[in-house]
Amino acid sequence: MNAAITARAHTNIALVKYWGKADTDLIIPQTGSLSLTLDQFYTDTTVVFDSSLAADEVSVNGDRLTAQQATKVHNFLDLVRQQASRTSFARVRSVNHVPTAAGLASSASAFAALAGAASRAAGLTLDRTALSRLARRGSGSATRSIFGGFVEWHAGHDDLSSYGVPLQEDVDWPIAVIALVLDPKRKKVSSRQGMQNSVSTSPFYPAWKQIVADDLAAIKPAILARDFTTVGETLESNAMRMHALTLSAWPPYSYFNGDTLAAMQTVKSLRDSGVACYYTLDAGPNLKIFCQAADVTPIQERLAQQFGQANVIVAHPGPGIQFLD
Ligand code: PMV
Repeated sequence: MNAAITARAHTNIALVKYWGKADTDLIIPQTGSLSLTLDQFYTDTTVVFDSSLAADEVSVNGDRLTAQQATKVHNFLDLVRQQASRTSFARVRSVNHVPTAAGLASSASAFAALAGAASRAAGLTLDRTALSRLARRGSGSATRSIFGGFVEWHAGHDDLSSYGVPLQEDVDWPIAVIALVLDPKRKKVSSRQGMQNSVSTSPFYPAWKQIVADDLAAIKPAILARDFTTVGETLESNAMRMHALTLSAWPPYSYFNGDTLAAMQTVKSLRDSGVACYYTLDAGPNLKIFCQAADVTPIQERLAQQFGQANVIVAHPGPGIQFLD
């Protein structure tokens, strides 16, 4: 009898972004990146391999996916089967724990949890580096969600050399990330499509590679030294320069909406009034605001007043992958 294994992985927010692949099959990035794992948003995934199944069965939040919807999961399970020399299909149950309508469910927590649960259920015993490499094959950002706290993804140059490494797992720095939900809907341009478009058409892409190298060199010592201003300035400029790649691509596009611009102004005016806070955004319109724990209340109140209480969620540094009984 095969055992059912459940793994929990948290999502992460990139402070220095991954935006572009060097190898689209193996998901080897063009540059390194660095993130903070968050405690509020996570995925629990249970996997069992069952020789009586005629195909993989996948459900997310209680809804059974069609074969087409489950293609990425199925392809990922094929990799696990290959590594474990198994042939049987699997039953996968995944539940995203994100506040209602937050629109923050992420492929990072999903593929990190799937990597953990599927590999163990298939009888593999992978260390966290190997798990990180496996998670990478599902979604680039999942590479970092195997670890807690501040995590760097070493770009590497092949399957063996591209994986996440914790910079600081137990974060004892009183910081917070406030997620501001401005549109819970799915993004129109997927990150996969968007980053590929930037790599192949933005004339700024070579400059981006240098920016990431410089930002990584600046942010790592700043995190270890708890230099809040340097970390904040680096993450905000890095996010804006990533988004400049979308505007400079052809055809141009943007993940921002009108509220995104208004919220950026609000963060800036909070900062001008002496409340230190900095924003970042991924492939969507929602802001994540990096601040010190002591400043959460005034920022939260101001954002709630402008965008509604339900759209403001406070998160803190979160843990790496866990296996649940
Ligand atoms: O892993 P993906 O394909 O969801 O891409 C993630 C891209 C960003 O979230 C925008 C940046 C990052 O480093 O997480």
